[in-house]
Amino acid sequence: MSSRYPAAWLDELRSRSDIVQIVSGYVALNKKGRKYWGLCPFHGEKTPSFSVDGEHQLYYCFGCKAGGNVFHFFMEMEHCTFNEAVEQLAERAHMTLPELEKDEDYERRRTQRERLLNANKEAARFYHETLFTPAGAASLAYLRKRGLSDGIIRKFGLGASPDDWCTLSDRLMEKGFTLDELVLAGLTVRKKAENGKERYFDMFRSRAMFPIIDAYGNVLAFGGRTLEKREPKYLNTADTPVFNKRKGVFAANLLRQQRHLDRVILVEGYMDVVSLTQFGVEGVCATLGTALTAEQARLLKRYAPQVYLGYDGDSAGQHAILRGLEILEQENVPARVLDFPDGLDPDEFIRRDGAEGFRKLPAISPAAYRLRRLKDGFDLSAQDSRLAYARSASEIVSAVDPLERDVLLGQLSVETGFSRETLLEQMNLSAQKASSRPKDQPARPRTPRAPVSAQPQGDDLRAQELLLSLFASGQIPKDMIEEKDFDDDELKSLYRELAAGASPASLPDLAPDETSRSRYTRLLLTPTAGSTDEMIAMANDCLIRIRKTSLEKRYEELSQEISSASGEQLSALLQEAREISDKLKKLK
Ligand code: CTP
Ligand code: MN
Repeated sequence: MSSRYPAAWLDELRSRSDIVQIVSGYVALNKKGRKYWGLCPFHGEKTPSFSVDGEHQLYYCFGCKAGGNVFHFFMEMEHCTFNEAVEQLAERAHMTLPELEKDEDYERRRTQRERLLNANKEAARFYHETLFTPAGAASLAYLRKRGLSDGIIRKFGLGASPDDWCTLSDRLMEKGFTLDELVLAGLTVRKKAENGKERYFDMFRSRAMFPIIDAYGNVLAFGGRTLEKREPKYLNTADTPVFNKRKGVFAANLLRQQRHLDRVILVEGYMDVVSLTQFGVEGVCATLGTALTAEQARLLKRYAPQVYLGYDGDSAGQHAILRGLEILEQENVPARVLDFPDGLDPDEFIRRDGAEGFRKLPAISPAAYRLRRLKDGFDLSAQDSRLAYARSASEIVSAVDPLERDVLLGQLSVETGFSRETLLEQMNLSAQKASSRPKDQPARPRTPRAPVSAQPQGDDLRAQELLLSLFASGQIPKDMIEEKDFDDDELKSLYRELAAGASPASLPDLAPDETSRSRYTRLLLTPTAGSTDEMIAMANDCLIRIRKTSLEKRYEELSQEISSASGEQLSALLQEAREISDKLKKLK
């Protein structure tokens, strides 16, 4: 990964963006030994294998092998490019970007972003305060009628937009925001009146207000619910320079605060989130009036190892679940479905059946859910229909693991009257059909692996890797090691960089791809060995092993050459062989 920023400046930024602090913003870390440990945000796990090395400023997951420096961590978490990560971390560290120092457009965009977020924050404050004044009485009454407590209203910062034209716009302009900024933030609408004059008015009027707040506490946008039966039922901020509805979720700010969630529940509506939260359900969020996107799926992966889809029990909701499952599968997010009975939405359900009823609701697997939906489309009392159902169902079941397959087979057998054996046979047919179908990603041909014994390289490579780790610790005398002690290209180049003074944290930036980045990081982590003396002793052991192997290799080559040499050449070869033999003796 190359960057357009000067190395020295990147070093400065890296050292000002302490990785332990940045990671702690996303992952709860505990110090154990020399490293910090937590649950890996990049793959689902129950015991921590994710480590942060404060000394070398690197992170590495021993489970999924994700690794890199603070830039890579930020990139992965925020799903942004390397340069975007650099820009955002620079902003937090109050460092000016070198190339962009004189870039007025960048400065303008940056300050504009800050100003729009400030305007939103002021607006949220205004709506929330209004809720408890006469101008907000109708909204407050509405929210209370929906069963919300004052506590939950405050927790979500819910508010009221008053029933008049431009109170908010005027208030914010008094505070120094320009009309252009308010329009850009989606708070104010500007219209040309019939007489040609321009007028403006508040975007949200006479609605109960739901602020959309990101994980950092920035108010990005609003949803406003009508108090009567006016259309639209929910009015949402359109995309703005600070808000993209495809990328965020409602209640991301609360997800951030709820550590160690074992699942996130994704629902459709604002009210569903608020209501479930009031009933004590943790980890609930909603997409923002759109179908689930891949970006959101990846975002949710950060907060919990699996996602439960808790969409409305109506047909639109059921359709959205099937699409949502596909997105989650594409993004490798384990998913389950909460299938609300009687066409209810989560809010209606929990108010009817309570927290206890909600807790008892089974979280069913994607395959079980798909079967349930499939079955709805067939009349199982008719033979043809039963056959067609069994066929389609077999395709669904053939894709699951053997344990779940066994359960679903039993269920299918009862439903269709076909024996498990018959269904299994049908399933094998479906599976064959599926595997003979051309896939977008052809299975990689297996590279035959040489048996371990034929790879003396293995242990030597490990010795070289350990040597590099020890060297990266900075505890080994520089002149102890030479470049030719490494015969692996990546190790050689890492050695060269370190010897030239590069910091371990800077080297993952040089990795050409993720696999190399993972390897670089693993090698550059602070070694677990204790004192300097111990490290030197270990390095010495590595060197002996490496140098011995390389001498032995040369010795073998020499004996080949000697057998066919003569005259002066022969005596030179013999001389070299004697020297090698001496060196080998000394090493032993
Ligand atoms: N939605 C929207 N615009 C609409 C209708 C719905 O953005 N005109 C979004 C909102 O985020 C809403 C969600 O879709 O919360 C689900 O819509 P719906 O099921 O119709 O509303 P509920 O969440 O059930 O809202 P309420 O309980 O307040 O009626
Ligand atoms: Mn509802």
